Amino acid sequence: MKRSTSYIHCLRLRGWRFVLALIAVAGIIITTGAFGVSSSPALAASLPCDIYAAAGMPCVAAHSTTRALLSSYSGKLYQVKRWSDSATTDIGTLSTGGYANAAAQDSFCSGTSCTITIIYDQSGKGNHLTIEGPGGNGAQDYGANAAALPITAGGHKVYGLYVSAGVGYRDNSTSGVAKNGAPEGMYMVTSGTHVNNRCCFDYGNAETNSKDNGNGHMDAINFGTECWFSPCSGSGPWVQADLENGLFAGGNGSNTSNKGNSSAFVTALLKNNGQTTYAIKGGNAQSGSLTTWYSGAEPNLGGYSPMHQEGAIVLGTGGDNSDGSVGSFFEGVMTSGYPTDAADNAVQANIVSVGYSSSISFPVTGTAYRFTNVNSGKVLDAVNCGTANGTAIDQWASLGNTCQQWKFASVGSGKYTITNVNSGKVLDAVNCGLADGTSVDLWSSLGNLCQEWEVIPTGGGHYELVVENSGMVLDDQNCVTTNGTPARLWQGLNNTCQEWSIAP
Ligand code: AHR
Repeated sequence: MKRSTSYIHCLRLRGWRFVLALIAVAGIIITTGAFGVSSSPALAASLPCDIYAAAGMPCVAAHSTTRALLSSYSGKLYQVKRWSDSATTDIGTLSTGGYANAAAQDSFCSGTSCTITIIYDQSGKGNHLTIEGPGGNGAQDYGANAAALPITAGGHKVYGLYVSAGVGYRDNSTSGVAKNGAPEGMYMVTSGTHVNNRCCFDYGNAETNSKDNGNGHMDAINFGTECWFSPCSGSGPWVQADLENGLFAGGNGSNTSNKGNSSAFVTALLKNNGQTTYAIKGGNAQSGSLTTWYSGAEPNLGGYSPMHQEGAIVLGTGGDNSDGSVGSFFEGVMTSGYPTDAADNAVQANIVSVGYSSSISFPVTGTAYRFTNVNSGKVLDAVNCGTANGTAIDQWASLGNTCQQWKFASVGSGKYTITNVNSGKVLDAVNCGLADGTSVDLWSSLGNLCQEWEVIPTGGGHYELVVENSGMVLDDQNCVTTNGTPARLWQGLNNTCQEWSIAP
């Protein structure tokens, strides 16, 4: 095909800008040690959206609670809302192109808890994410607790976005995002240790009416352990493509070459030219390069080739607001145009240069703690000091006995069993229930996810206790404060009835 002179000139310009971007990224790699994590990484000269712009596929969305994603950005990263008085404030960067000012959040939320209410778009397109409304398969969502995911990035304390069941963000009226078979790319940095097999921890393109509008109406990265098209390879979690009515590991869905990514920080990448081809990549966001899990034809199952994207942006749920999934989100972008592999590699190198790392120091394994509900002031208690499987759990005034003491034992990746000191039995989600209102009891240790818990800081020395099988939190039933009020499981509501102080 004959190309116009201006088109060739444009390509040359793009080529030179891309070479310059690669030189900048190479400089970062040399400064920080080849793909290593420096103890005090310098700010990157060329950030993900600089790299994609230089390669000719600019960002049309850029979201992060941890850092700027283009070097000229000095605006707002996210908004938090205080539980005590519903006041809001915006959290920005410490410097142009720099890391989030977590100290501003700590100061504003001191003495109370905060919810993340907006994640601002840094691309200039105004595609800000707010708390997701009701959809075809999910009620009004909740915002994430702002203090739930403290980590380190670039040597600075920052917060990631902790998505539990019922948490989701969305923009159904975007600008510049691919529609109806247009090419696009996207990545997110997430975690391989905070996942489940429920639908659907997604970031990317979704329906503008929050309903399942049919095959090809979504083009979003999915990350989790839900194997939609059997067989899958191992137990995941996998980077997959949520193209609507299916989480595709590659090809027509099943792709055992997609081996999964379980590192503490994961780069998850998806791109789709909208007409014939899509690709899935994953990598360790702390070191090394991306693995291409799939690159080839779009599914030939009807509706996916060409694609029918609608151009909304979803984060944390499925296209129809299916919201049983959990996950962590640190940063992500969407591009206009199908990114080159060279650009993807340069973005991965920049992500690695950030030096993302966890900062978990609580709870201490083996210490006997009491869990005091912040609303009721009562402690978590085994009813009548029962020791049998099925013993119910309630809240009672502190009696100083071992029926009200609990010990954590690590099962890895920041998860714990919680053993009642008197009975030796563990805290358990009854029948592995997934519904709001599921009871908790004592049971012999079974080694399953219904007995594994995460201890999530919510600010002010308080915590949520999240059970792994459902992502629901331990809750003071109906916020009642009398002795004997059951503790049970409910989706996160951002109130003090779901907060516990945990002390010896
Ligand atoms: O494709 C998987 C999920 O199916 C989508 O996210 C959701 O819209 C539908 O329920």
